[in-house]
Amino acid sequence: MLNFKGEQTMIEIKNISQAYGNTQVLREVNLIIKEKRITALIGANGAGKSTLLNVAANLLEPCAGTVLLDGKDIKEMKSQDIAKRIAILKQTQHLNMRISVRDLVSFGRYPHSQGRLKDEDEQKIRQAIEYMNLKEIENKFIDELSGGQRQRAYIAMILAQDTKYIFLDEPLNNLDIKYSVEMMTILRKLVKELSKTVIIVMHDINFAAAYADDIVAMKGGQIMKEGAAQDIIDQTVLTEVFDHEFCIANVYGKKVCVYFPPEDKSAKGDAINE
Ligand SMILES: Nc1ncnc2c1ncn2[C@@H]1O[C@H](COP(=O)(O)OP(=O)(O)O)[C@@H](O)[C@H]1O
Ligand SMILES: [Mg+2]
Repeated sequence: MLNFKGEQTMIEIKNISQAYGNTQVLREVNLIIKEKRITALIGANGAGKSTLLNVAANLLEPCAGTVLLDGKDIKEMKSQDIAKRIAILKQTQHLNMRISVRDLVSFGRYPHSQGRLKDEDEQKIRQAIEYMNLKEIENKFIDELSGGQRQRAYIAMILAQDTKYIFLDEPLNNLDIKYSVEMMTILRKLVKELSKTVIIVMHDINFAAAYADDIVAMKGGQIMKEGAAQDIIDQTVLTEVFDHEFCIANVYGKKVCVYFPPEDKSAKGDAINE
């Protein structure tokens, strides 16, 4: 993909391999992350999803391979410049400090301001707080918030960072259904209204099916299958990816998965069993 100046605008992961000791965790992974879409990374525990995300965000140096960020090798970029383009919310983002929502959001400006906030930084912080509907609680401490509010505050921090790419590692963990739906609705809005590119590791395949444009299914450190979300939600693909039997049904014109086997094997549903 090229922009009007003829520059590459995407993330290209090329032949990435990673190992911890003798354990190979990523095996020659190749992936192109397209702009202005939500790409969901799915796969069983230990498949390598978090490792891939961390390598793509330059938080982890791979044993082999290259990551091109808008056409540039990230190894040759300053970490500050990468942080102006990629914001990442890690799987274990536990801030135990007693800080206010506003202070948390202002951390997002660090790559731009190095801690000395200018007018433009203050403006971005204000916009992020307003966009995420946090104005009323901006002075509350984050440990006083509900899970859903806290997650919104983290997203506001990432918005303040003002990056094109947003990486999220299991942001729906610990959120109930209502907040999970709210979070995914917000992410869709970020793509539509702010032209963000979102890469999200997620556990719940049905959330991926309903909200992602593309799904990348990983297993054993490799990409098993990638494509349009509705094409990956397929009985054969998912059974192989998760070593588990799936039944695919059609709801509201979209595919959803049922992943508990019926007690009565002859039971019939409205499933699409291709
Ligand atoms: N820092 C580490 N040291 C050793 N092994 C690790 C480390 N991080 C991850 N692993 C291992 O790498 C594999 C892939 O982990 P990860 O990328 O976290 O998978 P996922 O996010 O898909 O659950 C797992 O087997 C995990 O135990
Ligand atoms: Mg993980």
